[in-house]
Amino acid sequence: MERHIRFSDEDAALVLLDQRYLPACEDDYYCHTVENIIYALQTMVVRGAPAIGVTAAYGCWIAAKEVAGSEDWKKELEAKLEEIAEARPTAVNLRWGVERMKALWESSQAETLEALMDIWLEEAKIIHKEDIEICKQIGVHGASVIDDGDTVMTHCNAGALATAGYGTALGVVRGAVDAGKKDISVIANETRPFLQGARLTAYELKEDGIPVSVACDNACGLLMRRGMVDKVVVGADRVAANGDAVNKIGTYSVALLAKAHNVPFYVAAPLSTIDRNMPDGDSTPIEDRTPLEVTHVGETQITPDDVPVFNFAFDPTPNELIAGIVTEVGVLRPPFAESIKKAFEEQGK
Ligand code: MRU
Repeated sequence: MERHIRFSDEDAALVLLDQRYLPACEDDYYCHTVENIIYALQTMVVRGAPAIGVTAAYGCWIAAKEVAGSEDWKKELEAKLEEIAEARPTAVNLRWGVERMKALWESSQAETLEALMDIWLEEAKIIHKEDIEICKQIGVHGASVIDDGDTVMTHCNAGALATAGYGTALGVVRGAVDAGKKDISVIANETRPFLQGARLTAYELKEDGIPVSVACDNACGLLMRRGMVDKVVVGADRVAANGDAVNKIGTYSVALLAKAHNVPFYVAAPLSTIDRNMPDGDSTPIEDRTPLEVTHVGETQITPDDVPVFNFAFDPTPNELIAGIVTEVGVLRPPFAESIKKAFEEQGK
């Protein structure tokens, strides 16, 4: 599935499959302005760390389009880029996407806005294409941690919809299937409150014909106790320098249960999700989203009026609970501070 993020030359717009309403409706959302881009990011029309990195890259081009004709376009453009980078705080790929475009602006020394826009559109398309290739490499390496007959539990959606295509955690599952592993199936935790697992993971795996069942988040302990889960593979919004992985709220609980039941717990993420400037997971900013996502199911309010709720969107999983981090350059193993450093050094980064 790669139709969920596309650039329309005809409309000069980024066209996103609106993930808020999947699987019930397959509607497109058109981003013509920076306001549209920020709305799409914040309301999760588009979501998932690599997908929002790709969106940020196209967003820079849209920002450039918006400042055309202004005398002070460089200053205005910088301000718009910062607004995009700050749209959501946890996934490092958002700022990564913007910073990569800014670095190109500097190195290209483009003097006119028109020249910059040409360079940026090409770069956004490269980032878009690269992300699919990176996910496929994650799949190639990830296949080695999956055995015939495995039932893989995942939390949230780290699939094609969360990336430019193929997915990270679901890339590992797809990689195993593509490598010819037999009888692979997935348990998708429903992932309250936005239901990325129930809606999105189930939707895309069903479309691919990979067997998938949905479980309530709080069934995880029982499923593991009954031996119904062989591996856990999740994505990440940010992996810290010490290997702590910040992912969708509830991931930490799944990791603790996996440890208690001797189920290997893997994180799948591209190197662009590893933030070597972040010492550990607890230092990572955690998005605090609108209470409405918890107080309401659809249009129906399910909590009494005026009762406060917690709606933290992510949690850090300490590195000691993680068996391996599957990246496009291989499966990194503990101690992660060392394996992460080595992986970057080998890439000349
Ligand atoms: O709030 P979301 O839906 O953007 O959160 C997404 C996740 O937590 C994913 O697991 C993570 O971004 C990895 S996506 C390949």
